Amino acid sequence: MSEQVKSRQRVQDHGEVFTNPREVNAMLDMVKQETGRIDSRFLEPACGNGNFIAEVLRRKLAVVAVRYRKSAGEYCRYAFVAVASIYGVDILADNVAECRERLLGIVKDEAHKVLKAAPDQQFIDAISYVLKKNILCGDALTMKDAAGEPITFAEWSVVTGDKVKRRDYLLSELLEGSGTKRGDQMGLFQSGWEYDEEIDGLIPSAVREYPLDNWWEVSRRG
Ligand SMILES: C[S@@+](CC[C@H](N)C(=O)[O-])C[C@H]1O[C@@H](n2cnc3c(N)ncnc32)[C@H](O)[C@@H]1O
Repeated sequence: MSEQVKSRQRVQDHGEVFTNPREVNAMLDMVKQETGRIDSRFLEPACGNGNFIAEVLRRKLAVVAVRYRKSAGEYCRYAFVAVASIYGVDILADNVAECRERLLGIVKDEAHKVLKAAPDQQFIDAISYVLKKNILCGDALTMKDAAGEPITFAEWSVVTGDKVKRRDYLLSELLEGSGTKRGDQMGLFQSGWEYDEEIDGLIPSAVREYPLDNWWEVSRRG
């Protein structure tokens, strides 16, 4: 089997054929400006073992390194922001596990290179926790997870300094709302939706909000 195919059965059952690095890079180059923005949000709804989002992460971390390599604290904070804005879904649990491990490995290796020392455990724990919440096993068509529950994604926003606000949203509502502008008829009359300045569009209400936490303490919320 080639590196792009794990088994014939998986191709038949799930259309699993991985994209090679040359194609990944060519496609990401089409949105180069966004891949170079540390907090730009990416969602890959059939992420496999993470070929696209791993490269997005590498590109973002390269920017973090250039800007913040002189301060370990700043480097770790912005590396957290880079990871926290990347999302993935795959229907196969082994792909999800591989993808999380792969992204964590990239963060560890890059941090080690930039900081010239192994990153501390608190940083690794925070990154691992975010990856557990952002890279999910589920069906991107029904938008349900393996247990049949609606897929819920956490939004992580750095509010001030080291403080992070977490809000959880249903994927189905996020996708339904995307692209709806403030002045649109539908948006005006839709209840429970809020205008978001950053995207100049309407976003659904969060299904859950959390108190502010330091970014390295996000895992305390369970
Ligand atoms: C063509 S592969 C692409 C993987 C990866 N995006 C890449 O480019 O290397 C398709 C992936 O979609 C996953 N998949 C198939 N049906 C899915 C569904 N309904 N929801 C989520 N993932 C699905 C498969 O497990 C597989 O990993």
